[in-house]
Amino acid sequence: MFSNLTIEEHFSPSKQIVLYPGDCLDLLRSIPDESLTLVITSPPYNIGKEYEKKLKLESYLDQQAAVIRECVRCLSPKGSICWQVGNYVDDGAIIPLDTALYPIFTGLGLKMRNRIIWHFEHGLHCSRRFSGRYETVIWFTKTDKYIFNLDPVRVPQKYPGKKYFKGPNAGKYSCNPLGKNPGDLWVIPNVKSNHVEKTEHPCQFPVELIERFVLSMTNEGDWVLDPFLGTGTTIIAAIRHMRRGAGAETVPKYVDLARKRIHEEIAGTLRTRPMNKPVYDPEAAGNSLRVPPWAKKQADEAQLRLLEKKGVYSTK
Ligand SMILES: C[S@@+](CC[C@H](N)C(=O)[O-])C[C@H]1O[C@@H](n2cnc3c(N)ncnc32)[C@H](O)[C@@H]1O
Repeated sequence: MFSNLTIEEHFSPSKQIVLYPGDCLDLLRSIPDESLTLVITSPPYNIGKEYEKKLKLESYLDQQAAVIRECVRCLSPKGSICWQVGNYVDDGAIIPLDTALYPIFTGLGLKMRNRIIWHFEHGLHCSRRFSGRYETVIWFTKTDKYIFNLDPVRVPQKYPGKKYFKGPNAGKYSCNPLGKNPGDLWVIPNVKSNHVEKTEHPCQFPVELIERFVLSMTNEGDWVLDPFLGTGTTIIAAIRHMRRGAGAETVPKYVDLARKRIHEEIAGTLRTRPMNKPVYDPEAAGNSLRVPPWAKKQADEAQLRLLEKKGVYSTK
């Protein structure tokens, strides 16, 4: 099924990769009912990025509702929708978009399964509030019979050598040897300047973030759709794991970028940060920049004072 991958522009269930250069509603209208297993996206947040026109919150939510309604129509009964969002900022006041969008999903009969906190360490520094260092992914399903494969996304245990100390299993290892459930707080670096996946797009998904959703919420051959595709990350994560990937993007330079990255993924040359790689710890890595230069200067001066010859004093 996954040999000779080609990128098509129009959806048909038998294809493998669809990159639609245009409005997501047009792509969605061409997709048959119940044919997608996962819809995952990070929509424009209405904060005035180069690709969006800032709208009143109500108009923004109406636009989002129209896209979400179509996604739900296209979603299979065993499928999931994951919407990754941050805050809408209105004259300095923040409105968490997940709370504003929640009634749209539940109003369409979906059930929420998780509100995942995606924590990262880099971003704008705020001076009138604490700097934002997380966003959320709200996960909804259409029915109770949804796909959820935990084993492929388990993470290493904190204490893999721990054993039961009493009861019938005393002496046996207490943890699952395949690893533990990753929980609903995910620490994954965001794609900022030093990230290996960084392109000119201002807000890319890291591929490893989407791999976790693809592996846990779909099976091989299933369709994964991103209505706001950007640089093609969702399609990359999907085809990396033998799923089908589709997405729409309106800005031509991002369509070109997505096409280039997908081709690199097919050729095996796309550089990405591996899933489950521990977050860089500058202290553990012995990074010299961890020592504040001013503290170093004080330490050097103290050292020089210690090296000075002791004075010889006379009482006469
Ligand atoms: C937050 S970014 C998504 C980035 C993406 N997650 C990635 O990994 O690159 C949203 C993207 O949606 C695109 N977009 C905005 N309105 C759109 C629409 N109506 N249809 C399709 N794409 C749209 C923007 O140009 C932008 O690239």
